[in-house]
Amino acid sequence: MSAHAAAPQPMTAHPSGPLRGSAEVPGDKSISHRALILGALSVGETRITGLLEGQDVLDTAKAMRAFGAEVTREGPGAWSVHGVGVGGFAEPSDVIDCGNSGTGVRLIMGAMATSPISATFTGDASLRRRPMGRVTGPLALFGARAHGRAGGRLPLTLVGAADPVPVRYALPVASAQVKSAVLLAGLNAPGETVVIEPEATRDHTERMLAGFGASLAFEETPEGRAIILTGRPELRPQPVAVPRDPSSAAFPVCAALIVPGSDILVPGVSRNPTRNGLILTLREMGADITFEAEREEGGEPVADLRVRFTGDLRAVETPPERAASMIDEFPILSVVAAFAEGRTVMHGVKELRVKESDRIDAMARGLRACGVRVEETEDTMTVHGMGAGGVPGGGTAATHLDHRIAMSFLVLGMAARAPVSVDDASPIATSFPAFEGLMRGLGARLGASGAP
Ligand code: S3P
Repeated sequence: MSAHAAAPQPMTAHPSGPLRGSAEVPGDKSISHRALILGALSVGETRITGLLEGQDVLDTAKAMRAFGAEVTREGPGAWSVHGVGVGGFAEPSDVIDCGNSGTGVRLIMGAMATSPISATFTGDASLRRRPMGRVTGPLALFGARAHGRAGGRLPLTLVGAADPVPVRYALPVASAQVKSAVLLAGLNAPGETVVIEPEATRDHTERMLAGFGASLAFEETPEGRAIILTGRPELRPQPVAVPRDPSSAAFPVCAALIVPGSDILVPGVSRNPTRNGLILTLREMGADITFEAEREEGGEPVADLRVRFTGDLRAVETPPERAASMIDEFPILSVVAAFAEGRTVMHGVKELRVKESDRIDAMARGLRACGVRVEETEDTMTVHGMGAGGVPGGGTAATHLDHRIAMSFLVLGMAARAPVSVDDASPIATSFPAFEGLMRGLGARLGASGAP
């Protein structure tokens, strides 16, 4: 996304026939960002296949070029990165625009924070509202200095530490982005950098750093799991095969659970245990989801997901300790909850308030506009289910530059009694550019609002 907003693209989803077929969702967003950044920090050529070519990741590719790496697209999803090595980043000659991507900007700030260079970061209106102090705080411990707007918001200039010191940091929020920023900064600090996680968050950075040859150790401590990174490794280029994104798979999976008669296959999706909260929850609700052809690809466990509509989903309560493993999936879970019997309560979800939008607020307003009763507190969201086929629909949801809000309401519209619109579907391009075509291919009726 450019920081300069394009024209909004309203879209409408209509009650749809059964969804059938194979849903080939794009590459994992988290792994795609990391592949480009770790490639840029390696000496030599890293070849990537299955890269997500969504705007968020394209913005990270552009940023890596600005820091001196050679990044080339060789074919669909096939990219090559000639890196500059740990500590080898050049100073960018212009502002780094990370568009809509919190992951992009936070990881890149970490990656440059221990080099003697400065960079100024910005993003779109959504990213400029989001808190950066959670990253610049720990980066200051390495010796980096940040000058941003109030609350550490973008635009922000980060002056990297010329003489970095290693850091021991206990995460105050369960955030893989903060953990990853500290680990990437630790790469160019001498000695051991330690990050302590009170709750497990996605572990792609650790897995991939180890794959690129960094030395990592893990220890259980009274404060949580300690990740110990030895600084100044020489990272070795790695071929990276990016598995398909479970957070994108969530949309066709959940659509198939609420559109009567559906039966779909979603091949090659990552089954990383730090990302499995949604599937676990859907199965607790009684969803018919099976894993076929379980295997390992590119260091990640993957499987084909078979999903069948049954029409008898039950409400569920999701415990706070599960929140991190499904943090991006709560918007679409709240849609499924509307089609279940009973009251679904999601606990420990306050991080949703600082995502691409305040996702609790955005979902609550849109669901209410579609006739669903929703209650919220700062840290919980409750959806009163109306059973299969029971959701009136007929509303328009504001997406607030948030791809997952847009896709969630379009899925709702496929199973509600009346069509559902979103005011702007353009943010979907950040993570799932093929969403509309893929869903139509399965049998969904959606398209530009007002189009025949
Ligand atoms: C991500 C971590 C999560 C998630 C985001 C991707 C990552 O954010 O919401 O979409 O790739 O590290 P937090 O770590 O801030 O919870």
